[in-house]
Amino acid sequence: MPLIFGTPMWKISKIPDGSRKRLFRLYESLQLNPWHFEQFRSESGFFEKSYKGFIVYQISDDMVDITGLGVAPHVQRQGLGKALLHTLIEQHPLKRFFLEVSVHNTNAIAFYERQGFQKIQLRPLYGHYLGQLSDFWVMCKNYM
Ligand SMILES: CC(C)(COP(=O)(O)OP(=O)(O)OC[C@H]1O[C@@H](n2cnc3c(N)ncnc32)[C@H](O)[C@@H]1OP(=O)(O)O)[C@@H](O)C(=O)NCCC(=O)NCCS
Repeated sequence: MPLIFGTPMWKISKIPDGSRKRLFRLYESLQLNPWHFEQFRSESGFFEKSYKGFIVYQISDDMVDITGLGVAPHVQRQGLGKALLHTLIEQHPLKRFFLEVSVHNTNAIAFYERQGFQKIQLRPLYGHYLGQLSDFWVMCKNYM
């Protein structure tokens, strides 16, 4: 049986290899930092079982690096981003969580701050957001 997490509304499980192409199309549609499919495919991750959202990450020692989190626009603000993020956090409650987010992505910054992340460092011209080169914040949870 696959692992199933989430809420009564959202069923979340680990991303199987056969689902990655379809999730990558959602990733591309959100116009975050441009990745090749091979990069996306190599990450660990969870997804919502009707393909409305995903979270991908890498783990090393005491740290989890969240490399992507996305929810389809028509179901944003309905708790799915939070369910995906907390599925991951509940698996690794003692680790520190890091991510990078464009300074212009104010919705995502507000979302992460609501989930207890704080800005810890500014990285000038670090990546792309909506097709434009952008400064990024490094944000962290459980930093101290
Ligand atoms: C950022 C994103 C993942 C949030 O997911 P979501 O499903 O829309 O967010 P949720 O409905 O789970 O919101 C969870 C909480 O964050 C708050 N929140 C979400 N968006 C917010 C916003 N724009 N402003 C203020 N608070 C916000 C909600 O009020 C909610 O609060 P609660 O903890 O009191 O319940 C989603 O908007 C998204 O995919 N954006 C495009 C891709 C992106 O920017 N990804 C992040 C790249 S680093």
